[in-house]
Amino acid sequence: MKTTSDFRKMKQNGERISMLTAYDAPSAKLAEDAGIDTILVGDSLGMVVLGYDSTVPVTLEDMIHHTKAVRRGAKDTFVIADMPFLTYHSSLTETFHHAKRLIQEGGAHAVKMEGGGEVLESAKKLIDAGVPVVAHLGLTPQSVGVLGGYGVQGKDEQSASLLIAEAKKAEEIGVSMLVIECVPEILGEEISNTISTPVIGIGAGRYTDGQVLVFHDLIGFTQGHVPKFVKRYSDVSTTIKEAIQSFQIEVKENRFPEEKHVFQAKQEGKQKLYG
Ligand code: KIV
Ligand code: NA
Repeated sequence: MKTTSDFRKMKQNGERISMLTAYDAPSAKLAEDAGIDTILVGDSLGMVVLGYDSTVPVTLEDMIHHTKAVRRGAKDTFVIADMPFLTYHSSLTETFHHAKRLIQEGGAHAVKMEGGGEVLESAKKLIDAGVPVVAHLGLTPQSVGVLGGYGVQGKDEQSASLLIAEAKKAEEIGVSMLVIECVPEILGEEISNTISTPVIGIGAGRYTDGQVLVFHDLIGFTQGHVPKFVKRYSDVSTTIKEAIQSFQIEVKENRFPEEKHVFQAKQEGKQKLYG
């Protein structure tokens, strides 16, 4: 299993880091078998698999439940779990308690927290206590209500400088990695070149130290809108739909099951068994 020190070495050696989300055991297993460096149990699970229209309704219990499943599927991969909406803001005691649950019950190797400022202060306390923390800056979807949408962040000089300052702060407190979402390519590049912490981009251009995508986006299983930064490497929705349609038709036309799918009794048929 690669660890936080491996990710730092990869950055030093210019080796790109691959991160993929997963929410259940079979997809986590496929990610691990494909050689993905680290799996993120993102709170995107709210939108991707639970049918919510944002990450805001996702609970700590949801995150623990799905993190457990991912760990059962990918036994040899570094797993990061998102701390969900408002589980790391009200007090340090609560933040510690929630991070502890994600790690002890969920089995996460690290937790991810959205935001700079106060959030990085809490992150520092967790790191001092021995908890690996991944920071998340730029577009922070849990704040969609405040941001007013999912737009690109850091487009003007002022907001770009703030993001650079926050990234430096994240490095200073010792975060294991920094996820940066939806910023201009030039800013993703500058942040990656400024700090020694591995920077994983999503919609942050070509020059970050690694890339992360949402599992269902990558395989073409996302229902509805897909952002510009996504590359769909497959179209499994069509494959799945065709398979289901074939089943539907074959059941209606009495073409499934076939002889090879059925069990035979030991005796000579029904009469014997049922008298
Ligand atoms: O929840 C998530 O999937 C994420 C990634 C998009 C970085 O936070
Ligand atoms: Na997330």
